[in-house]
Amino acid sequence: MSAFDVARARRETPGCESVVHLNNAGASLMPDVVLRTVIEHLELEARIGGYEAAARENDRVEAVYDSVARLLCCSRDEVAIVENATRAWDMAFYSFDFQRGDRVLTCGAEYASNYIALLQVAKRTGAVVEVIPDDEHGQISVAALEVELARGARLVSLVHVPSQGGLVQPAAEVGRLCRAAGVPLLLDACQSVGQLPTDVGELQCDMLSATGRKFLRGPRGTGFLYVRQGLIEQLEPPFLDLHAAEWTGRETYAIRGDARRFENWETSYATKLGLGAAVDYALDWGIDAIAERVQGLAVSLRKRLEALPGVDVRDRGVEKCGIVTFTFEGVSAQAIVALLSAEGINVSLTPVSYSRLDLGGRGIEAVVRASVHYYNTEEELQQLVDVVGLR
Ligand SMILES: Cc1ncc(COP(=O)(O)O)c(C=O)c1O
Repeated sequence: MSAFDVARARRETPGCESVVHLNNAGASLMPDVVLRTVIEHLELEARIGGYEAAARENDRVEAVYDSVARLLCCSRDEVAIVENATRAWDMAFYSFDFQRGDRVLTCGAEYASNYIALLQVAKRTGAVVEVIPDDEHGQISVAALEVELARGARLVSLVHVPSQGGLVQPAAEVGRLCRAAGVPLLLDACQSVGQLPTDVGELQCDMLSATGRKFLRGPRGTGFLYVRQGLIEQLEPPFLDLHAAEWTGRETYAIRGDARRFENWETSYATKLGLGAAVDYALDWGIDAIAERVQGLAVSLRKRLEALPGVDVRDRGVEKCGIVTFTFEGVSAQAIVALLSAEGINVSLTPVSYSRLDLGGRGIEAVVRASVHYYNTEEELQQLVDVVGLR
């Protein structure tokens, strides 16, 4: 951990001067290079025109696909850049032609937006959503999954890292089982990209959705979708436009062959370039080095919190990440978040409605979520603990 140049990271992050930012699972502080990239492109648009700016910067815009492909260890043709992780996930999920009785397997940590979509499609089509139970560590039971895969399934949806806790799912093991069973795996990597390695070959996922603003430190309103080469042409996106498809004759159109069939025509070029800058910046630090630093800080924060009377750290799983969740006996999570906010410390609240199966299943109404990034310091962690300790 000591090898990580925290001073440089903080120097390159303007927000470090004004806040103690422990809401990186919400949106991280952007590094200067991302901020400048976005602003400079907006200024170029204002000066020469939006279409003209996109044309002038076309090579850099195209390079964003190479950057995301490097991050995921895939080909640039397998990458679609969209507005957020939910839209990325939806474009993959709603492309499946579900039939009555199709089984869709998911996990107890499933994210609210994904689960709502699962319920909607089940209602519309007669497909069946089945939740694989957790094992004794609170992660998806790979033994139970193996049994259910043997009974046949149309799709597996797995959240790599959930919104509501430090859990890291055994995604590569799930991927291995899905591949062996011939069932596609849609991995929600929204909270893992940027803080953990996300090599789609190692994870053996067929689709992966992610966002730019969280641990990748990109601008808000950016996300991306990976779809494995052999699967792209089997999936017909729920919406098509003249970017996703070509109008070839009065009665005909042809859907494009690469993953950009999941995109739409109009997009923010400024934030797309900002996303590329964020990915390059993360790769420059090295994802393994980031993971080690982030996990080290999270271990330290959990230890400090556990030492406080009345505090319950709620993170589950064998492997844990930079998300630290806790409750305080007799004090609402809302009150703790407000207290910290008043002291200039950003954390967030995760209510049960974000994760009914997990938090609801554990009888928890809400947790305080403190999420660390590599630019945070041990002193900042102690500031949080000192404020919570005063309750
Ligand atoms: C696990 C998980 N999946 C998906 C999302 C949705 O991401 P976005 O807001 O970029 O659509 C979130 C957001 O918090 C999340 O935590």
